[in-house]
Amino acid sequence: MAAKILDGKALAKEIHAELAQEVEQFVAASSVTPCLAAVLVGEDPASQVYVRNKERACGKVGIRSQLHRLPDTTSQSELLGLISELNRDRSVHGILVQLPLPDGLDDQPVLDAIDPLKDVDAFHPENVGLLSQGRPRYLPCTPHGVQRLLYRNEVKTSGKHLVVIGRSEIVGKPVASMFAQRNSLYGSDYANATVTICHSRTADLPSITRQADVLVAAIGIARYVTADMVKPGAAVIDVGINRTDDGLAGDVDYDAVSEVASSITPVPGGVGPLTVAMLLVNTLRAAQRQSSS
Ligand code: GUN
Repeated sequence: MAAKILDGKALAKEIHAELAQEVEQFVAASSVTPCLAAVLVGEDPASQVYVRNKERACGKVGIRSQLHRLPDTTSQSELLGLISELNRDRSVHGILVQLPLPDGLDDQPVLDAIDPLKDVDAFHPENVGLLSQGRPRYLPCTPHGVQRLLYRNEVKTSGKHLVVIGRSEIVGKPVASMFAQRNSLYGSDYANATVTICHSRTADLPSITRQADVLVAAIGIARYVTADMVKPGAAVIDVGINRTDDGLAGDVDYDAVSEVASSITPVPGGVGPLTVAMLLVNTLRAAQRQSSS
């Protein structure tokens, strides 16, 4: 039987509608318009598309956005100078530095330099630490999108085995951290998973992915997860966006895996739109925090 499609695009639309109202009420009450500053260094075509989507989404819900485009010849200290300016600018509530940075720039000192209160990606070590202690200030956008999508579709994780393929700071590690916790924004049913992180050195990876009740693929290799790697009835969440000769593809072999899984996210239209929606949520929360402090 074909799997249920976990439609991220439709859910993101619902979230945008709710947020637009919440932003309007916040602006009316505070006279502050939430503002996201996006920093894009270099000409990476995928990053340009992602940043454009983020700006466009801000516009839809009434959040202001500013784009700071820097050439790939930008030095580390020039980039740090811009971050410091944005930290000081009281009209900017959220700062996002689109990753990856061009060769020659070191992302960690840049992310460390962002004011943690304006860190709407939740990449700053203070925010990563708060998350890992189970008292998040901001939830990282992609993992939060995954959790929200599971909640919306009543795919509970408590007591289930969640396997994530990939150990990145953006997806793999925070997904593991969030779902292993006792509770979530959506209640304990959407946390409390038994979590396994798989990566490039994992021995016999298919034997582990086949144990997953919820399988999250975040490895960055097109159609890497094949049907034989999936337990019948599993929920499969595809975080990958890979450019291939025949267009965009996720990390999951969608056609074959949807014959085995009980539910599956499409690419595009799955997790991607929710990453953007959660960034908007964090930007509004950042503005709320900063205007009440
Ligand atoms: N590059 C890929 N995903 C992301 C993300 O969620 N935030 C930022 N800043 N860069 C990314």
